[in-house]
Amino acid sequence: IDLTVSKTGGNASSPLLYGIMFEDINNSGDGGIHGQLLKNNGFQGNNPGLTAYAAVGNVTLSQDTSNPLSSAITSSLKVSVPPGTTGYVGFANTGYAGVPVVATTYANYFWMKGKYSGTINLRLVGTSSGIVYASHNITVHSTDSQFTYYDTSFTSSASPDGNNEWQLLFDGSQVAGSSLNFGLVQLFPPTYHSRYNGLRNDVASFLEEIKPSFLRFPGGNNLEGASPADRWKWNATIGPVVDRPGRQGDWGYPNTDALGLDEYLYWCEDMGMEPVLAVWSGLSLGGGIVSGSALDPYVDDIMNELEYLLGDMSTAGGRLRAQNGRTEPWPIKHVEVGNEDNLSSGCGTYASRFTQIYNAIHAAYPDITVIASTTDASCLPSSILEGVITDIHHYLNPDQFVALFNEWDNWPRTHPIFVGEYASTHNSDGSQTYWTRMRGSCGEAVYMIGMERNSDIVKMASYAPLLEHFNLAEWSPDLFGLDSSPDSITGSTSYYVQKMFSTNRGSTILPVTSDAGFGPVYWVASVSGSTYYVKLANYGSASETVTINIDGTKSGTLEMLSGAEMGSNYPHNVTITPQTSSVSGSGSFTVTMPAWAVAVLAVS
Ligand code: AHR
Repeated sequence: IDLTVSKTGGNASSPLLYGIMFEDINNSGDGGIHGQLLKNNGFQGNNPGLTAYAAVGNVTLSQDTSNPLSSAITSSLKVSVPPGTTGYVGFANTGYAGVPVVATTYANYFWMKGKYSGTINLRLVGTSSGIVYASHNITVHSTDSQFTYYDTSFTSSASPDGNNEWQLLFDGSQVAGSSLNFGLVQLFPPTYHSRYNGLRNDVASFLEEIKPSFLRFPGGNNLEGASPADRWKWNATIGPVVDRPGRQGDWGYPNTDALGLDEYLYWCEDMGMEPVLAVWSGLSLGGGIVSGSALDPYVDDIMNELEYLLGDMSTAGGRLRAQNGRTEPWPIKHVEVGNEDNLSSGCGTYASRFTQIYNAIHAAYPDITVIASTTDASCLPSSILEGVITDIHHYLNPDQFVALFNEWDNWPRTHPIFVGEYASTHNSDGSQTYWTRMRGSCGEAVYMIGMERNSDIVKMASYAPLLEHFNLAEWSPDLFGLDSSPDSITGSTSYYVQKMFSTNRGSTILPVTSDAGFGPVYWVASVSGSTYYVKLANYGSASETVTINIDGTKSGTLEMLSGAEMGSNYPHNVTITPQTSSVSGSGSFTVTMPAWAVAVLAVS
């Protein structure tokens, strides 16, 4: 195959094209990218009981609703100590399927109530082995009149596995025949950009390698709620964590909401991403739809959220944001109305619900780009609303992605697109795949080449879901995953495709002439400054030789990802990663594309 890249002509590429979508699914937030490692610390969600807690020594644990930590955290952990107790006793928290214990410094916070003066011993311990990796004493003076907050840190040695727990122990003889209460225990390893209540540094850094340009949050289904009352509520996720009630998330487990609205925006700021804020559109997952004048209070709520994010100090919202630590407004330029409003009977009322919300946002913030949660014309207003982008989701098999290579070629140039979720979830024979296999990742790459060729109108695209805790997942495949064991962060083959495409972006998509049609090899060329990028995917079982001609270029690099058709990266078994080599040539480069391969040539 002979390709000649034109140095003139072409279309401007959307600078936002490759980004990420995040919602708390698969414990991707709590137990995933959020730094806090202890589970059920606020007794949130439906009937949490003593999940993740265990007695240490001869004590009895109970969920105590008569000693709430705050009006939001309405339970605490009661540790009842029998008369005659001697020695150190207390409780353990086993985290999200174990506590990751590495050689680092942990920050540890907790609240305590009950008469006790003396030593509290904080530990990281192997649950089965009993090996103590960290042991740290602090002196407390706790009273029974109110909860007192304690904040400390300690270093740990590394555990060889994820089967670990955090323990809090106290001198049982002082409490014998009585009890102590504990609330909102929190344990953090180093956080990304050293933020208080921040993201796990190791997880966020792995994600940062993709260089995503936007973050769509907080859902996905997790925005919607089982009913209108259960939706994600922005104002329940701000301020001190002790004032956040959490909620029963839409993926079957409680959300602490410690990863809340401001934390999402710090994440965006620290990773250099444009926030794409999703707001509730009146459709809940359980089918409850709020529309017409009944939607008005929810529209007001969206406007209050935007005032909180964008308002200056003359507004109540802006002042509240400043009170929560952020004086400067957040840079909100994209708001998506709902999630998948084409699904269920919600479609019927979406045109009016969308218009109502669009009108309110557009009147107050004309510079915000509003995104509709579907491309389905039958759900949308009949006339195009100024500047609106529409969102489409594709969970397909690899052949279906290849069949959609041309999806955007003839799309009206006045209708910009957001491919808000996509992933190769099935094999080509229709069977479900655990993690995406090479054929699936190649299918995604072919589709991405199609998007990039049309990135004058395909403004943004994000693979989904982003992250799974291997032991707590509801939905696979995901882009990357982790568990509590050392070095568990694992990128799927699709993670590497995203990384290759996102870190090699041109600002202009260039015309390419060829002596062959598309398939099994697909390509797109672009340029930024003096660097030319050619992305290639071989969606076939035979090796292909591609000669690429770019006048005046001399040298650069070739990144190549290839593997067996059904090859895949599995938890703790990463076998397929991009290999980078140097290339040189006088305006001409020959690339051998193995079967099932994705490549990026970057030359100048
Ligand atoms: O990405 C998983 C789910 O798929 C999202 O929550 C939803 O938007 C879609 O149906």
